[in-house]
Amino acid sequence: MPAAEWEMETLLEYLKYSSGCDLTGYKRPSLERRFRVRMRELKIDSYLDYLHYLQRHSQEYIPLLNTVLINLTSFFRDRASWEYLANDIIPAIIASKQPDEPIRVWSAACASGQEVYSVVILFAEALGIESCLQRLQFIATDWDKDALSQARNATYKLRDVSAIPADLLEKYFEQTEQGGYIFHRQLRRRIIFADHNLVKHAPMSKIDLLVCRNALMYFKSDIQITILIRFHFGLKNNGFLFLGKAEMVMTPRPIFTPVNFKHQVYQKGLKLDLEEHLQLCSRSRKKPAIDSPATDIRIWQTAFETSPVAQLAIDSNRCLILANAKANTLFGLTLNDLGSSLQSLQLWQLPGLCQSFEKVNRDRNPVRLENVGWKTANDTTYFDISITPVFNADTQLICLTEVFSRTNVLQKRVW
Ligand SMILES: C[S@@+](CC[C@H](N)C(=O)[O-])C[C@H]1O[C@@H](n2cnc3c(N)ncnc32)[C@H](O)[C@@H]1O
Repeated sequence: MPAAEWEMETLLEYLKYSSGCDLTGYKRPSLERRFRVRMRELKIDSYLDYLHYLQRHSQEYIPLLNTVLINLTSFFRDRASWEYLANDIIPAIIASKQPDEPIRVWSAACASGQEVYSVVILFAEALGIESCLQRLQFIATDWDKDALSQARNATYKLRDVSAIPADLLEKYFEQTEQGGYIFHRQLRRRIIFADHNLVKHAPMSKIDLLVCRNALMYFKSDIQITILIRFHFGLKNNGFLFLGKAEMVMTPRPIFTPVNFKHQVYQKGLKLDLEEHLQLCSRSRKKPAIDSPATDIRIWQTAFETSPVAQLAIDSNRCLILANAKANTLFGLTLNDLGSSLQSLQLWQLPGLCQSFEKVNRDRNPVRLENVGWKTANDTTYFDISITPVFNADTQLICLTEVFSRTNVLQKRVW
């Protein structure tokens, strides 16, 4: 795996386990572009440096998430598909119901609400506002809290509402004193807005129409399948799914049947089988599984102990707290040395080490020393040494780790 790719994956794992911010399911090219945008704002070049930044700034995942989640949206985006929804799908849903029966709609990944109010307008036009107020049960969700609060406010600028036909604008919006437009107050109150992560949370239930446009396309195909299985679970029999123009249902079995390919409308198809149900359960767990291999401390210990490069950890009082087998052999350390002050160990004689420690403590940034010689009675071995600060959740420095990788001395001499 190329170095930058490896760094990116390490970064994503760190975010997932340290902040519960799981971005591992998103397609890499667009994710990398968005990370680069945030890193440029901070003048950070490499993913590894950004990882260190995240370690020191525990709330950094919030602006990062704001950069990653793209909220591009508009009223009646892809107008022809909305006309199809208005002329074919909404009448079919209404026709399948008793006159007073509730109609349940879920707008998933609704961004700042334009899509939500587009759907509400179409139902209000089909049912009449009074009946819509009685019958429509509308849930609108997104993972982006800022976008959700804009959606809740339901206030838009003139340029935002330009795609709404004038008669509908007049009927469903009121002008604000600041020159904005606010959506119909009573209809707005029928909508429940909720923070919901498509990758993590259980779906809404008994849905007649699920609108999820221009969100699936950001996910890797296995995650798209998991989300589609959830959607299937959330829909009533014969319920409809309305996706974005560039999206498609690609499940291994036809759990959705296409109603109209051009407008990306599907209907709930085959029932879920056992495997699909299991996939739904495992992904719905709120926390990473306790028995997940990556969270088992013994694996981390073994990886540290058996690493072919020497590694140490030094606490903030400059005492040795960990040394792996390779470090013990190289520097003649024993269990008795754990807890000893670094100055009392021969290791402290390594040129530049003392100054580098001061620098890491002061600047809280990693330091790398190159081609440092370690003299023994018979030989001199050369190392590149990486010293990395480790912080706790309150961003206090708790220790420094040192990694010694042997340099290729012959190659260095040629240079
Ligand atoms: C490009 S916007 C689409 C907005 C609207 N559906 C439309 O088509 O106009 C994508 C939305 O997906 C949301 N999103 C991204 N990842 C999500 C996740 N894991 N769970 C829920 N929403 C997510 C983003 O916050 C953003 O609001």
